[in-house]
Amino acid sequence: MSEAQGFGTVDGMAHSHLAEMLDLDADVLHQYHHDLITWISSLTPDRPLIIDVGAGTGTGALALARRLPDAQVVAVDVSEPMLEHLQHKAHELGVADRIRTVQADLDQTWPALGPADLAWASASLHHMADPDHTLAQVFAALRPGGVFTVIELDSFPCFLPDEAGAALEERCHAVLAEKRAEAGMHIGADWGLLLAKAGFTVEAERRFDIALQAPLPAAAGRYAQVSFQRMRDGLEGRIDAGDLAALDAISAEILDRDDLTVRATRTVWLARRPRTQ
Ligand SMILES: C[S@@+](CC[C@H](N)C(=O)[O-])C[C@H]1O[C@@H](n2cnc3c(N)ncnc32)[C@H](O)[C@@H]1O
Repeated sequence: MSEAQGFGTVDGMAHSHLAEMLDLDADVLHQYHHDLITWISSLTPDRPLIIDVGAGTGTGALALARRLPDAQVVAVDVSEPMLEHLQHKAHELGVADRIRTVQADLDQTWPALGPADLAWASASLHHMADPDHTLAQVFAALRPGGVFTVIELDSFPCFLPDEAGAALEERCHAVLAEKRAEAGMHIGADWGLLLAKAGFTVEAERRFDIALQAPLPAAAGRYAQVSFQRMRDGLEGRIDAGDLAALDAISAEILDRDDLTVRATRTVWLARRPRTQ
């Protein structure tokens, strides 16, 4: 998607903010990420080749490279700034020699990337213009028997524990969901069905319900603040003045709150390219 190129925006969000939010997401939802990486990395053969589809800042690519010391990882994204961020972190973590970045618009014809043992797409498929095209390209990039892990959000995280705050978040998320649907994004698509249609065998569908209670890790306040700013930017002109003022008031004091929770859900589909195709 062309708006994601250069220093533009993704889903209405500046790249620098999105990059920070992706890193905070992995940091704050640490246990979920740990469980997921443990599960998926147990399915790979020795010396796997892994493709991270829409890698962003590399939360998946880097975690897989660290967990699987003999893996080679190809991290693909349309955004050069995201890939630079990823490379910088790969150097810091000592895995840069096993991570290759490829800048490509995956809505177009894909560069040769495989044959891979594992393809990983976390919160990226819903951005693609044509999911059928993307799934066909992933299928072709996998070796027969290779695994495809799709991770998608059902909704964005919620933080406020009180009834009025939770209701405000719910109203805001509903408006943002409408806006994304109007923009043609595929949040909430039936990935199991689409994967099967593309020729994959869907072996598992697993939902992670994340509910972190206070006291939260230090990064959680900033995660909430960035999430609220993102929500606020996307809602200008779409919700009434009272709700906008309430969002501003909450954002202004969110770093001082000690009662925040983090409520999020992720669904993971585990699909395989059949061994005979
Ligand atoms: C919400 S981020 C998810 C990043 C990462 N997978 C994660 O879980 O943290 C979506 C990523 O998909 C990338 N993206 C969106 N459209 C793309 C396209 N057409 N081709 C390649 N990458 C794309 C964006 O640049 C962004 O880095």
